Amino acid sequence: MELKNKVAVVTGGASGIGLATCEKLAEHELKAIALIDRSAAVHDACERLNSQIGWEMVFPFAGDVTSGEFRNKVFSNLNSRFGAVHLCIPAAGITRDRLAVRLDRETGKPDIYPHEDFESVIEINMIAPIYWAFQIVASVAQDRARRGLGQWEPSEGVQGSIVLIGSVSSAGNKGQISYATSKAGLEGAQATLAKEAIYHGVRCSIIHPGYTDTPMVRTLGDEFVKDHILPQTQLRRLLRPEEVADAICFMLRNSAVSGALWVDAGWHSTA
Ligand SMILES: NC(=O)c1ccc[n+]([C@@H]2O[C@H](COP(=O)([O-])OP(=O)(O)OC[C@H]3O[C@@H](n4cnc5c(N)ncnc54)[C@H](O)[C@@H]3O)[C@@H](O)[C@H]2O)c1
Repeated sequence: MELKNKVAVVTGGASGIGLATCEKLAEHELKAIALIDRSAAVHDACERLNSQIGWEMVFPFAGDVTSGEFRNKVFSNLNSRFGAVHLCIPAAGITRDRLAVRLDRETGKPDIYPHEDFESVIEINMIAPIYWAFQIVASVAQDRARRGLGQWEPSEGVQGSIVLIGSVSSAGNKGQISYATSKAGLEGAQATLAKEAIYHGVRCSIIHPGYTDTPMVRTLGDEFVKDHILPQTQLRRLLRPEEVADAICFMLRNSAVSGALWVDAGWHSTA
């Protein structure tokens, strides 16, 4: 699928993989990219990107991806300014890592993973990206209906593309019970949405990056990365955000790609 003149939404765009994806997308002369993040840094990121590009392609929207009201506002703004929105990379994500069950050494009482942390991770990492993806399907479907088009025909060319951001942790990773669950949940959503959205000519796939050099991973600390991550990684280094972004753009553009792509540098979780 030609990305030129398409309209894209990238969440988590102020940092890491989201920001790198926006930079990569900008090379393809899109009509507009909406950069979404709850961090005010999204404004500076857009300013910097637009000055690199030489014109106003990237538009900042500061807000919480879990808010339906915010999401609707972003889409009505984009639909009225640019028409249909075709591409979605919902990359906003968080971790709340700890063991699922621990025993208090002194009292011997069980200390179970906090419910509110589990809910936050599922809301941000799983439910929100799925709803941002729905909105792309809706935007393309409405635009087609307005033009008197019904079921998509292959001769029209693919109309839109979504890449959900999974993780190597979706296959199970000690200390990441909520995160792994949220990323595994995205697999079910991808497989189902791929079957439904193609009615409107929209593809949906999922990428599973390995440990990538972003603020999310840097909070683990250099020692942890050196001792627990790099030995399990064939490249013996963290992935670069731009390597993941490159794979995301490949998945958006190449319509033969369906399902999941593992971009993990051979990383495997230990027993
Ligand atoms: N870094 C890795 O090793 C790695 C590996 C696999 C998957 N991922 C996934 O890639 C995605 C991007 O991660 P990253 O490493 O770039 O992290 P990051 O922390 O650098 O960026 C995440 C961004 O999401 C934003 N965000 C978080 N919650 C939000 C909310 N409720 N509303 C709006 N914005 C919110 C943050 O402000 C931040 O700018 C995440 O989904 C993450 O799970 C990362």
